[in-house]
Amino acid sequence: MTATDTRLDGSGAATANRSLVGRRVGHYRVLERLNQGGMGEIYLVEHDVIRTRAALKVLLPEIAASREAIDRFIVEARASSSIGSPHIPRCHDFGYLPDGRAYVLMELVEGESVAATLARSGALAIADIKTIVGQVADALAAAHERGIVHRDIKPEHVIVDHSSAGASVKVLDFGIAKVLPDSATRTQVGMFMGTPAYCAPEQVLGEQVGPAADIYALGATAYEMLTGRRPFNGEPASVLTLKLLSDPVPITELCPAVPRAVAATVQAMMARDPALRPPSMRAVASAVAAWPTEPAPPPAPTLVIRRRPWLIRGAIAAAAVIAVAVVASAARQGAAPAPEIVEVAVPPPTVDAAPPPPPLPPPVADAPVVAPPAPAVPTPPPPKRVRPPRRQPPSPPPRPAAGSADVLIVDPFQ
Ligand SMILES: Nc1ncnc2c1ncn2[C@@H]1O[C@H](COP(=O)(O)OP(=O)(O)O)[C@@H](O)[C@H]1O
Ligand SMILES: [Mg+2]
Repeated sequence: MTATDTRLDGSGAATANRSLVGRRVGHYRVLERLNQGGMGEIYLVEHDVIRTRAALKVLLPEIAASREAIDRFIVEARASSSIGSPHIPRCHDFGYLPDGRAYVLMELVEGESVAATLARSGALAIADIKTIVGQVADALAAAHERGIVHRDIKPEHVIVDHSSAGASVKVLDFGIAKVLPDSATRTQVGMFMGTPAYCAPEQVLGEQVGPAADIYALGATAYEMLTGRRPFNGEPASVLTLKLLSDPVPITELCPAVPRAVAATVQAMMARDPALRPPSMRAVASAVAAWPTEPAPPPAPTLVIRRRPWLIRGAIAAAAVIAVAVVASAARQGAAPAPEIVEVAVPPPTVDAAPPPPPLPPPVADAPVVAPPAPAVPTPPPPKRVRPPRRQPPSPPPRPAAGSADVLIVDPFQ
């Protein structure tokens, strides 16, 4: 499809088909439109001669005439190129299309955004989260060390490529990046910029934002990767209010399998007061490097085994007496050959209000239930093999009582 030229009027409004597919930009041919964000459209392009592929980001026609948008675009191009992190795509070129739209030619990023992965399959595995958060933290630590704050970290801006050995992560969109010191920033104090679900509270309040805002946003992104849900949900306005007034639900309350060290780091990153967050993105990267890669084991249920020795002894004695009687009667009759094995089914003793249980050894999960030794019974003449009373198949464990979720009461004869 060949696009017609889009001429921008004074207000920046586009009036015609704006697609670039099929057109040439410099030495590159535009192959397909990949996606669109808040500022630009992204196209897949290929070099005419050397056939290398790249991404072309073109300002949306609606904002293409805005001086502020163009300035941000330039900041984005410079910032991502100057950081020099393997986790931030490099810019190769900057220019203007014949219709006046500014464009950036940059490294093509392959893979899937974390937002797409979350939408497809919910929460991610701990090992993957460790890899992703670690690489994003490395990228942002490099940015911060060059005085650049991203300010719009979110799952959609984190792309993960699993095609090579080990995941390779890229951080996109320095479009609202701020270059410290503040003189270079385009955002005035008192103005909110960012994505409500992930931005830091100080960003909501329009205060000065620094590296701590990226720490918060990466924490919010990690929270969603761990739990499959955003830290705060609802309409953007209520999300902004909620994050000013409350903390998200603790991670292990939603997902007990998340290791405590992981939950602790992520929740600290999301502290409402920036001073209470980890001191730097490097500190975050170090903490993440020490995360375990396996989920936490499920909490061991506490076994409380109520023994009722008098009940058990009674049952076994009754079984023995019945066995002796059966055997003796068979011997007396003498006619029919005695069966090789006499099976005696012993009904399980009934359970009633038991006296308080005796002191027990420390409870052990999955400990076998050991019945007390059987009382001595007279040996019946002639000796016959008697199969011991068969245990009843175990019944499902009773549901824990309300308010004692991790205490499982197991009565072996219930
Ligand atoms: N270098 C790239 N390579 C491949 N896809 C990209 C690249 N940059 C952006 N994209 C795609 O375009 C989407 C929007 O890009 P983004 O930089 O966030 O644009 P905007 O600044 O308009 O929000 C991304 O989520 C991603 O899917
Ligand atoms: Mg974007």
